[in-house]
Amino acid sequence: MQPADPGLEALEALAVDIAREAGDLVRSARVDGVQIAETKSSGTDIVTAADRASEALITRRIRAARPDDGILGEEGADAEGSSGVRWVVDPIDGTVNYAHGLPAYAVSIGIEVGGEPAVGVVLNPATGVEYTAVRGGGARRNGEPIRAAAPVPLESALVGTGFSYERDLRISQTRTFAELLPRIADVRRFGSCALDLCAVAEGSLDGYVEEGIGGAWDYAAGVVIATEAGARVEVLTGTYGRILVVAAPTAGYPEFRRLVAECGFLSAAGSADR
Ligand code: IPD
Ligand code: CA
Ligand code: CA
Repeated sequence: MQPADPGLEALEALAVDIAREAGDLVRSARVDGVQIAETKSSGTDIVTAADRASEALITRRIRAARPDDGILGEEGADAEGSSGVRWVVDPIDGTVNYAHGLPAYAVSIGIEVGGEPAVGVVLNPATGVEYTAVRGGGARRNGEPIRAAAPVPLESALVGTGFSYERDLRISQTRTFAELLPRIADVRRFGSCALDLCAVAEGSLDGYVEEGIGGAWDYAAGVVIATEAGARVEVLTGTYGRILVVAAPTAGYPEFRRLVAECGFLSAAGSADR
């Protein structure tokens, strides 16, 4: 492993500080009950007042500290920037869990430098668990190094997945899901793409595959954390034309990718990274 770039470490420290402040806001906002502000692609695709407040806090902090950086946020932040650094932010990943009081949601902050994923911070405010990584510096959970699992036979693999908010896409997804389920040990649907990628990074999931991911904010931070922990992550086009994320420990990745293809997750053109 190469020594981490001190410039990236400074960005990571800032991202951690901002994520913690946003996490405190999100957690304390739940105490007064969750206010659904809007629905998006379907009635299950909800946005709460806390999603918006968290993104406003994060963008305000980034702009104050680094006014020339670009920002992309799920709830509307979209600034190009001129520094070559871009922040890709999900102010709450796992909003359905957040609204239901399930402790599986996260503030997710990824940073790209020169267009390449470079820093990842995923903080679960409900549990206090914090995942961090900088390119070349390894991945950590609450400051302790983490590694992806050693590959297991597919029939023993516990695989994270997820389903779209859109009803029609869900109906189609039952086909690929029906192919996958008999060929692995079991699936988990935690409801946060960022935490799913961190679960692969820390070795608690043997793989993750999901089509219909909302956008780069879902995986920007998790990609850095999983990659630095010894997993491979690909962002592809799925069989229904949507963003498909596939992740597994690097040594077992080719076999997992083959399984995913055999189960019909990949479009004909799906081998090309997006
Ligand atoms: C969603 C979660 C979910 C995944 C969806 C995402 P949100 O993000 O990551 O696990 O299945 O594709 O959109 O809406 O909670 O920020
Ligand atoms: Ca999300
Ligand atoms: Ca979100």
